Amino acid sequence: MKKFQPQQMRSLAARLATAVGVPSGDAEILADALVDADLQGTSTHGISRLNIYLQRMTKGLIAPKATLSIERDSGSVLALDAGNGLGQVQAVKALGLLLPLARANGVAAATIRNSQHFGALSYYCNRAANEGMVLLAMTNCEPAMSPEGGYQAFFGTNPIAASFPTGKGFHIKIDLATSIIARGNIIAAQKKKQAIPEGWALDRHGNPTTDAQEALLGTVLTMAGHKGYALALMVEIFSSVLSGAAIGADIGSMYKNMDRKQDVGHFFCLLNIAAFLDPDEFCSRIDDMIDRIKASAKRPGVDEILVPGERSARNALVNEIQGISVSQETLAELQQWCSRLNVPLDCIEVNA
Ligand SMILES: NC(=O)c1ccc[n+]([C@@H]2O[C@H](COP(=O)([O-])OP(=O)(O)OC[C@H]3O[C@@H](n4cnc5c(N)ncnc54)[C@H](O)[C@@H]3O)[C@@H](O)[C@H]2O)c1
Repeated sequence: MKKFQPQQMRSLAARLATAVGVPSGDAEILADALVDADLQGTSTHGISRLNIYLQRMTKGLIAPKATLSIERDSGSVLALDAGNGLGQVQAVKALGLLLPLARANGVAAATIRNSQHFGALSYYCNRAANEGMVLLAMTNCEPAMSPEGGYQAFFGTNPIAASFPTGKGFHIKIDLATSIIARGNIIAAQKKKQAIPEGWALDRHGNPTTDAQEALLGTVLTMAGHKGYALALMVEIFSSVLSGAAIGADIGSMYKNMDRKQDVGHFFCLLNIAAFLDPDEFCSRIDDMIDRIKASAKRPGVDEILVPGERSARNALVNEIQGISVSQETLAELQQWCSRLNVPLDCIEVNA
């Protein structure tokens, strides 16, 4: 692992995206979303994903200049088409459409079809929380999990997320795949040729495996057995059935299907806290709840009870100063893209 200043990595990612045809403003959105994941410690959804997005753009599988179009407008409900553009870019633009609607009406929702993998959901949820809003976000993604009792990949790891503003200097950030583990962790283990823990995955014949490569050919297990299956199904219905995006196993795999688009669907529901109660009262009530959670009795060996989002916020503060970690594999990919696209690799390693 080498560490780099976040701003330098943002600039490099944006220049590489621009070099494959992404308009500069959109390239900055993509770069910011990726580096934000690295800052928060979710490196599985950070700069390590740039390589596959660049590959797919150069093969014409993602439209770098896509625009977001409104297919249906029912006041504060929008049905959007991402035009096969970058998921991060279209999701930020969708949120931009929903914010004034939620301010005016208390709640606004959108489906987004014809999109791609869009990284860590908390990026969008935290942006909404910065505005005093709660964004409930869901997405389907490439097939990785089977229904309970099966072993053929049907669902993606279908994550769900929401962030809540607090007065504690961080947002409560609920952001989780409905799989036992985000698939990015298996991809990371496979890249490092490491084994994965038991209980994460089945191989392509339905047998438990600790081999990351076999796991990627097989299925990731759902979170909490049948309950994870049920939640993944709910995310699927909101994200694809309702949006018009590809359903379940029809979604193109970002890594395996280098011949067709993904057609991922997202679902956003944005709630304006001020429409429900005074934002100051919300803040004092949520802060009081956090205090009570953190003061609750700790299990033996536990120093501190954390609330979701607390560790990520601490990571972000440290990584902003000390730099974000970039693996050797990702660095090698960036070097290759820089030489291929004639973009200077001018990031200076922190503490080199
Ligand atoms: N775009 C996609 O297709 C896709 C698919 C799957 C996952 N993802 C992303 O992958 C990322 C990782 O997902 P994950 O399921 O591995 O999440 P995770 O298991 O790391 O965390 C799940 C939740 O638990 C909280 N948490 C973790 N440790 C905690 C602790 N000790 N105390 C209190 N709270 C704690 C986190 O803040 C988070 O809200 C997410 O950002 C998700 O959006 C994206």
